[in-house]
Amino acid sequence: MKARNEWRNDKEYVALVADLLRQPAVQKLADYTQHHHSDRLQHSIAVSYDSYRIAKRLHLDYVSTARAGLLHDLFYYDWRTTKFDLGTHAFIHPRVALRNAEKLTRLNSKERDIILKHMFGATLAVPKYAESLIVSLVDDYEAEHEFFSPLKKKLHQRMKKYRLAKIN
Ligand SMILES: [Fe+2]
Ligand SMILES: [Fe+2]
Repeated sequence: MKARNEWRNDKEYVALVADLLRQPAVQKLADYTQHHHSDRLQHSIAVSYDSYRIAKRLHLDYVSTARAGLLHDLFYYDWRTTKFDLGTHAFIHPRVALRNAEKLTRLNSKERDIILKHMFGATLAVPKYAESLIVSLVDDYEAEHEFFSPLKKKLHQRMKKYRLAKIN
């Protein structure tokens, strides 16, 4: 996202996610630091909005992309300090987010896949839909604040991995 509040001027986008943004469970994400420079709500909106724009450009399901992108990190613990017995944060938090998202809204199968597979690359759960792949890539991009060429390189590697996984 070029500017932090760019999404606010995009009326079509806002209309797609307004009901979710109003929910206290989503607003609460602002209480958690995601990365050094952003809280989890800012991060979630950035992932949702950028993924939405890419999906729209590619004539994909931008509605599901916008909504599930916003909910992909709907969990409430500090991932830097909370440790789990059952598995890594990368494995666990998409499941926690999915469970929380299902309490807020009805999700279609694509939205469920987007949330559950957004750690593709770090985990072996292969996205079923192109929209899930987009969100997983944008999530990395937003997290690392990389610029164009590293993203392009990463996209290349990810697509290769995706194709291989589809074949096997
Ligand atoms: Fe995440
Ligand atoms: Fe994320």
